[in-house]
Amino acid sequence: MNYKVKIKGTGIYAPKKVVTNFDLEKTIETSDAWIYERTGIKQRHICSTEGGEFPSDMAYHATLDALKAANLEPNDIDMILFASVTPDYRLPNTACILQQKLGITNKCAAIDIAAACSGFVYGLNMATGLIKMGAIKNALIVGSEMLSREVNWEDRNSCILFGDGCGVAVVGRNEDNDDSDILSLHLGADGTGKEFFDQPIGGSVEPLTAQHIEDKVHFMQMKGKEMFKVATRTLAENATIVLDRAQMTLDDVNWLIPHQANVRIIETTGKLLGINPEKVIVNIDKYANTSAATIPIAMHEAITDGRIKRGQILLLDAFGAGLTTGATLLRY
Ligand code: UT7
Repeated sequence: MNYKVKIKGTGIYAPKKVVTNFDLEKTIETSDAWIYERTGIKQRHICSTEGGEFPSDMAYHATLDALKAANLEPNDIDMILFASVTPDYRLPNTACILQQKLGITNKCAAIDIAAACSGFVYGLNMATGLIKMGAIKNALIVGSEMLSREVNWEDRNSCILFGDGCGVAVVGRNEDNDDSDILSLHLGADGTGKEFFDQPIGGSVEPLTAQHIEDKVHFMQMKGKEMFKVATRTLAENATIVLDRAQMTLDDVNWLIPHQANVRIIETTGKLLGINPEKVIVNIDKYANTSAATIPIAMHEAITDGRIKRGQILLLDAFGAGLTTGATLLRY
C-alpha cells in the first residue's frame, strides 16, 4: 500500500488578548524598536486564564474549522496527534481531552507529542507513514501552546519572544483525482543541545516546590545565541535533505514555511539556502513564537488568503528545544 496523503483542511485559533511590544515596555526594560529589530515581532496573543482558551479549547475551535474545510465529521478522524509543551494537564494527555470535546465516539488513537517547536512536523510526518500504509485514513495534527504560562515575564531575554496560539491540519488518504501528496520527510534530534532551551523544574527529577516559585526558577530558560546558530544551520540542512529525497530543487518549491522563532533566523536560513525571500512565509510580527503552532498557523493564513494554492509545493521546516527538528515536502 502506498496511498497519497493530502492536507484536507486547516484551522487556527488566536487568543483574543493581544499584547504589543509597547505593552511590554511598561513592565520590563525593553523597547518596541529593540524587539522588532532583533526579532521581527510586533505583538503576541495571550490566552485568558479564566478558561475557554486553554490548549484543548483552542484546538477544539481550530479543528471545527479544519473539519469544515475538509468536509469531514469529527468521527472521521482516526488519530489525534497533539503537539504541545504546555498541555492542559500532566494527565490525561490533551489529545484525549480534545477527542472528548469534539464528541468523537469512534475510540480513535490520541497521543501528545512533546517535541517542542518541531511537534507539528513530527505529528504530520508520523501520521503520513500510517496513512500511506493504510493503517489509518484521517489524522488530526495539532500544534497548540499556552507558553505564556511558562514564560518568566520579568526576563526580557526570553519573554518578548513567545506567544500563545493553535494551528491544526486534517491530513488523510487522498481519494480525490489530484496529485496532492507528501513527497518526502525528515525527522531528527540532537540531545547534546538539551540545555540550550529547557525547563528543568517541575518534572520527576526536580518536582516543583514553593521555594522554586519564590525564586522564580521554574520557568522556561533559553540560551538565545546558541539556539540561533544551530537553528539556522539545521533549518537549511533540513531543506536540502527533503529536496534531495524527493529529487527536487528549491526552484520547484513555491512556499517555504519555516518555524517562526525570529525573523533573523528565517532570513539567515533563506540566505544559506539561496531562496527568493518572496517565497518564504513570515507572520512572526503578529504571533511571535508559538512553538508547535507556528507552522500550521502560517500555513493556514497563506491558504486562506490565497497565496497557497492546490498543486503547489510547500516545504515545512521546523526546529526546537531538545533539540528536535523536522521537515516535510508536500504537494498541497
Ligand atoms: O523556537 C526556538 C527557540 N528560540 C530561538 O531559537 C531563539 C533564538 N535566539 C534569538 O532569537 C536571539 O538570540 C534573541 C532574540 C533571544 C536575542 O537576540 P541577540 O541579538 O542575540 O541579542 P543578545 O542576547 O546578544 O543581546 C544584545 C543586548 C544585550 O545587552 P548587552 O549585554 O549587549 O549590553 C541584552 O542584554 O540586548 C539586550 N537585550 C535587550 N534589550 C532590550 C536582551 N533582551 C532585550 C530586550 N530589550 N528585550
